[in-house]
Amino acid sequence: MSFRVAVLVSGEGSNLQAILDKVHGRGGVEVVCVGSNRATARGLERAQAAGVETAVFDAAEHGGDRAERDRVLGDWLDAHGLDLVVLAGFMEILSPEFIRRFQGRIINVHPSLLPAFRGIHAIEQALEHGVRVAGVTVHFVDEGVDSGPIILQQAFELPYSADVEATEESVHAIEHELLPRAVRLFASGAVRIDPENPRRVLIEERADV
Ligand code: GAR
Repeated sequence: MSFRVAVLVSGEGSNLQAILDKVHGRGGVEVVCVGSNRATARGLERAQAAGVETAVFDAAEHGGDRAERDRVLGDWLDAHGLDLVVLAGFMEILSPEFIRRFQGRIINVHPSLLPAFRGIHAIEQALEHGVRVAGVTVHFVDEGVDSGPIILQQAFELPYSADVEATEESVHAIEHELLPRAVRLFASGAVRIDPENPRRVLIEERADV
């Protein structure tokens, strides 16, 4: 039995690439489809180069009605019989109906140590705030903005000279390890919500994951 993954992207797709390179086709994990809200997303080319099916779901083609777009996107995802939906630089808020539809099966990577610096431009927000420690979070997606239960986090110290470009580089290096690791953990059945506290995610860490 394979563990079927969809990835949603809006732009460059370097996190998608990390998943394709590090987990796709290994240990039963298959990236079965990649969707984007933008036809020009470079991530679509990366998926195609790996032989993965792609599709574009632009709200503009649904008269700007994002909820309707999300229904169509949800139908497409459901048709693939997915175990996990990964938001990897997907830069639109998904409708509450969509989130409920994939509840417990949808995760996101965010370039800050949540709950600090939610939303867009998280790295810029952190630098403007003058933080000394930055980081990356992989979390479940719920109906809020970057507010779902935290699955994995990794911090790093910022040099005093840190600018946006250098910080982005450090963030990406961490993301490209953390997100594939999260997918592997899900595929091995190691991730579950704490029945005692739904904010907490229990992870059965294993040496081989
Ligand atoms: C990543 O740094 C990701 O954390 C961020 O967008 C970038 C996408 O890069 N996501 C968010 O800010 C979501 N709020 P990529 O397209 O090269 O993977």
